[in-house]
Amino acid sequence: MSSNGSTKSSQQPAIVRADTFCVVITGASSGLGAALARAYSAPGVMLGLAGRNPTRLAQVAEACRQKGARAETALLDVADADGVSEWLRRIDAIAPVNLLIANAGISAGTRPDGSLEGIDAARAVVLTNLLGTIHSVEPLLPLMIGRCAGQIAVVASLAAYRGLPDSPAYCASKAGVLAYGESLRGKVEPHGVRVSVIVPGFFASPMSDRYAGQKLFLLSEEQAVRRVMRGLRRKARRIVFPRRLALLLRTVNVLPAWLGDRIIGAFRFHIDIRPGGP
Ligand SMILES: NC(=O)c1ccc[n+]([C@@H]2O[C@H](COP(=O)([O-])OP(=O)(O)OC[C@H]3O[C@@H](n4cnc5c(N)ncnc54)[C@H](OP(=O)(O)O)[C@@H]3O)[C@@H](O)[C@H]2O)c1
Repeated sequence: MSSNGSTKSSQQPAIVRADTFCVVITGASSGLGAALARAYSAPGVMLGLAGRNPTRLAQVAEACRQKGARAETALLDVADADGVSEWLRRIDAIAPVNLLIANAGISAGTRPDGSLEGIDAARAVVLTNLLGTIHSVEPLLPLMIGRCAGQIAVVASLAAYRGLPDSPAYCASKAGVLAYGESLRGKVEPHGVRVSVIVPGFFASPMSDRYAGQKLFLLSEEQAVRRVMRGLRRKARRIVFPRRLALLLRTVNVLPAWLGDRIIGAFRFHIDIRPGGP
């Protein structure tokens, strides 16, 4: 649903071939979501693409259509559970969803002047990243379980592994996404629905551009897309990259807290303010 309260979707006739592969991506107007949308585009593929920025979302959809895919777009905020649910059901009625990638997310943290992120930004982060993910997954579960088919991917972050002093709400939201995805898997896998938890470190995107600090082992957008798609193709339970950063954070986690804090404390950053963002 858009910020003025109405869900806005592109309108196309609701006829697709029976063997259509249907991929739904939230946060498809930018970064990883947009790159995945373009990468999945091919004849015989239907894409449900959601985001908030109309210009960027339309550009992504057009690029996908140029590659032969059918693309249905919706301007919606993942915080709006009813709007997301209505749209997902509409897409699923056109073509049963094979793959959902719940990718929409925002970052916040220490501000450029060094002040705390504040309650408004913290709430927006948890609402978008954690509840937004749950809003995007839940409506499809009964449909996929009913068909004994489908794959759900949620996008967490390596920030889920170890809290970072400059982005407490972001780390908490992603730890929540990780726990949600891992929990869900045990429940729905016996019903034929696969769940992949994507756990990326830094990759190039507008979000990471706003991260003012050291980006250890930064990957390109193409590298991130390749890793995600390979993992999803294999129906991997966890898609974690880069491995070196994951290992580092896991190691810090098993150290005594005072020592872990000291190591993590060497990696301080702030988040540049996104125009119109939290
Ligand atoms: N970049 C990294 O280094 C990194 C590392 C680990 C994890 N991640 C995660 O990867 C995912 C993609 O990040 P990215 O780097 O590609 O970020 P990005 O370029 O900023 O893209 C974020 C996407 O999420 C959408 N979005 C944000 N809030 C939304 C809301 N309330 N409702 C609907 N859509 C919303 C944005 O839509 P609009 O622009 O249209 O508002 C945009 O399409 C995020 O979940 C992020 O936390 C990123």
